[in-house]
Amino acid sequence: MSDKKASGQPPKDSGPDMNRRTLLKAGLATGGAAASAAALSGAAMADSDRLITEIQDWNRYLGDGVQANPYGMPSEFESHVVRRDVEWLTASTESSINFTPLHELDGILTPNGLCFERHHGGVAEISPADHRLMINGLVDTPLVFTMEDLKRFPRENRIYFLECAANSGMEWRGAQLNGCQYTHGMIHCVMYTGVPLKYLLEEAGVKTTGKWVMPEGADSSAMTRSIPMEKALDDCLVAFKMNGEALRPEQGYPLRLVVPGWEGNMWVKWLRRLEVGDQPWHQREETSKYTDLLASGKARRFTWVMDAKSVVTNPSPQAPIPHGKGPLVISGVAWSGNGKITRVDVSIDGGRNWKTARLDGPSLPKAMHRFYLDIDWDGSELLLQSRAMDEEGFFQPTKDELRIARGENSIYHNNGIQTWHVKGDGTVENVEVA
Ligand code: MTE
Ligand code: CO
Repeated sequence: MSDKKASGQPPKDSGPDMNRRTLLKAGLATGGAAASAAALSGAAMADSDRLITEIQDWNRYLGDGVQANPYGMPSEFESHVVRRDVEWLTASTESSINFTPLHELDGILTPNGLCFERHHGGVAEISPADHRLMINGLVDTPLVFTMEDLKRFPRENRIYFLECAANSGMEWRGAQLNGCQYTHGMIHCVMYTGVPLKYLLEEAGVKTTGKWVMPEGADSSAMTRSIPMEKALDDCLVAFKMNGEALRPEQGYPLRLVVPGWEGNMWVKWLRRLEVGDQPWHQREETSKYTDLLASGKARRFTWVMDAKSVVTNPSPQAPIPHGKGPLVISGVAWSGNGKITRVDVSIDGGRNWKTARLDGPSLPKAMHRFYLDIDWDGSELLLQSRAMDEEGFFQPTKDELRIARGENSIYHNNGIQTWHVKGDGTVENVEVA
């Protein structure tokens, strides 16, 4: 970082915050959010704001030239926007998880460097030249593909969310972690470029007895899961790009399986083998893990689909309201493994009354959706909630409804409604409304 840039930081005690508050008051006096927004963009205070009246360093001096950063990075003022982990959650970082900073993002896409990571044996380092994908089992011709081979099949671009089945798992029995990054950050949504799995299976020729596919990872955990053939032939992709560039090592470079709408565990990274079989394999990750222990003591297997879910990302514990009463943009994300989100409702009184939020941006099946509710906040305490509905008519349940259906022993597939307690001073806490 150059001195020039360091001195370019707006001093902490300078005017903008003060001005904004004053302007907001002016806006409120004329009544309504629209009037306040107009006041926010007005020039009434310009003569006392030295950020406007004085020439700043960034205006006076030349900046860095092209190629200062051959691979661009976010502004230094965004250095707080990072994945975070919870140290006490796991014994080692190789088999662990970190979380997407949902409260810092907007729109529907997750930047590659902020996609949460879930590894069971650390990040495999694989040169694409050394990577192979094998198809074996109940096929006419067992095949081995290089990365170059895969790039000669017709490819498609599709936007999907990936949610770990354990997302919000810590919240089953009550409010735990203070921030949507931690409660809901085991999700990301990117555009994948890849070859439909169907084309590769057709190339190998699936025998009529072939009803299941088992992807296997090349990492030290050799992740394996059983996927029914209908899903494999429907919308699964063997992907090598995310958001236009190569997969990140953390996300399975050079090759990962994309299993749209289904739990993240099945999206095998560093994909090296696809075995075709006549029945599920009952691997570790679909028996001792990723099954749902019900109140009866029975474990439910194969809960593949990630049901409709949503969360308010702003305001939230890590993103308090900085500006006092007046116009407030409530924002959040919603998603469903069943298809598109058709509606998101927001409540500011703990679920007694609901208002339909505004969905904005692309609405794509099995992708993240962005919602907004623009309100005029009177400064009183809020119990902020959101609930999503998908195109199958599925409504996100309350946590109580979920516990009645599933008991209290579950970890996975918690899509219950989240509540944030917004206080008068704008700070926010994770709470549960029974
Ligand atoms: N694939 C391999 N080979 N090894 C792994 O540890 N973790 C799984 C899945 N695929 C895993 C894997 C789990 S549990 C999840 S939630 C997703 O990858 C996480 O994907 P991400 O790290 O891109 O967020
Ligand atoms: Co997972």
